[in-house]
Amino acid sequence: MSNRTPLHIAVLAAGKGTRMRSRLPKVLQPLAGRPLLAHVLDRIAALPASGVHVVVGHEQDRVRAAFADLPMALNWIDQGEPHGTGHAVHRALENIPDAARVLVTYGDVPRIPVADLEACAAGDTVTVLAARVSDPTGYGRLIRDAEGRLLQIVEEKEASAAERAVDLINTGVLAAPAGALKGWLAGCEPAAGGAREWYLTDVVAAARADGVAVEIVESRDPGSVLGVNDRAQLAAQERMEQQALATAFMREGLALADPARLDVRGTLTFGQDCALDVNVVIEGNVVLEDDVQIGPGCVLRDCQIGRGTRIAAHSVLEGARVGPDTRVGPFARLRPGAELETGARVGNFVEIKNAILGAGAKANHLSYVGDACVGAGANLGAGTITCNYDGANKHRTEIGAHAFIGSNTALVAPIRIGDHATVGAGSTLSDDVAPGALALTRARQRTIPNWPRPKKKSDPS
Ligand code: UD1
Ligand code: CA
Repeated sequence: MSNRTPLHIAVLAAGKGTRMRSRLPKVLQPLAGRPLLAHVLDRIAALPASGVHVVVGHEQDRVRAAFADLPMALNWIDQGEPHGTGHAVHRALENIPDAARVLVTYGDVPRIPVADLEACAAGDTVTVLAARVSDPTGYGRLIRDAEGRLLQIVEEKEASAAERAVDLINTGVLAAPAGALKGWLAGCEPAAGGAREWYLTDVVAAARADGVAVEIVESRDPGSVLGVNDRAQLAAQERMEQQALATAFMREGLALADPARLDVRGTLTFGQDCALDVNVVIEGNVVLEDDVQIGPGCVLRDCQIGRGTRIAAHSVLEGARVGPDTRVGPFARLRPGAELETGARVGNFVEIKNAILGAGAKANHLSYVGDACVGAGANLGAGTITCNYDGANKHRTEIGAHAFIGSNTALVAPIRIGDHATVGAGSTLSDDVAPGALALTRARQRTIPNWPRPKKKSDPS
């Protein structure tokens, strides 16, 4: 392609995705937590395109809405009734100048390498991106002559046994001069009323018939150019994507107990010497400062974890800010708005929501702390509950620095416990407690010596 030839990219995303058997349009199915089409558009963004045309049809309002905030300018094209990949490209070409080079990509080939797209865009004839695969089932096969020149692409269902044995497949990526492509495509339109779809792949034979040589670019990464037609293929791509992410993270210094047992569905940022045990799930935007250790089976969504902190096994954190040198879990749950300051401790079966735990504060066992502010060095005994909800409204609990809350205490909000105050175990408090005071509401213990236990009626007296 000469430097002055503008590049236009057509992304085909109008199909129903029948083989997924899902209500969600195929190009919105998630891969590593993001729609398939988002992965394609990411890669396209690396190319110097004068126009990006996304052909949509099935559930197009949903598809368009999913990309409403994208910084990249997209020209959405309504395919109407989808009559095949050839029809989709025909619709895209109505918006593309004849002098342009057009690069066609499919919305269901999410991990297409940028280098492969660039190689196809760079040509000046018809270029088809191919891949050699061990199992070509379902793909169009590249049929060549004895000299290796591409003659035609034959779809699986129209292929002879000999053609089916060909392991060089069509990835769907094709580049061509726009004006010529329009002509070849028009010649491939099937007769109205026929059962056959309008195939983009037929332009290869049409170009040949026109005396134009078709160039084959073979992908160096065949696993990445495979399509997603059903859930098994989606899962296969998910594994490859996760493996690629894990490899990249390890190269950047992240310690992984097992790179095959990490799932990142968003962005993970980490400092030095962070370690993730097996089966950690990362969602949204997660930031780990230096020396963070995450135990097995933890789920972290939109969290920031401070330097030197350890999150023990099976903890679930969402929308939390965890300071340095804290200890969380095992089996802890931090919900949105949880903030742990330096050295705080949150132990097993403790739930924290919209609450700050000051430096060194502890809630080590079986507690609910919601809509609260807990001062530095305070200790919440096992079973401390902030009763923040009266059935209609949420109320706040304020616990002062170095307060000591005895086990099994219910703090009925709104309530304030002063600095250095003490609450006796088993209390239910609804009034504020002054700094330094002791408050308790439990009944005084009564002891009856030598008390005869009741006996069963049938027992001999
Ligand atoms: C297609 C190719 C096949 C290739 C394979 C690679 C054709 C005829 N076949 O087959 O040679 O090996 O991809 O993955 O091109 N689409 C539309 N409008 C339509 C039909 C499809 O936009 O009318 C979109 C789909 O949403 C999808 C893409 O085009 O993103 C490919 O369509 P699909 O039906 O999945 O084609 P395959 O059978 O995979
Ligand atoms: Ca496909």
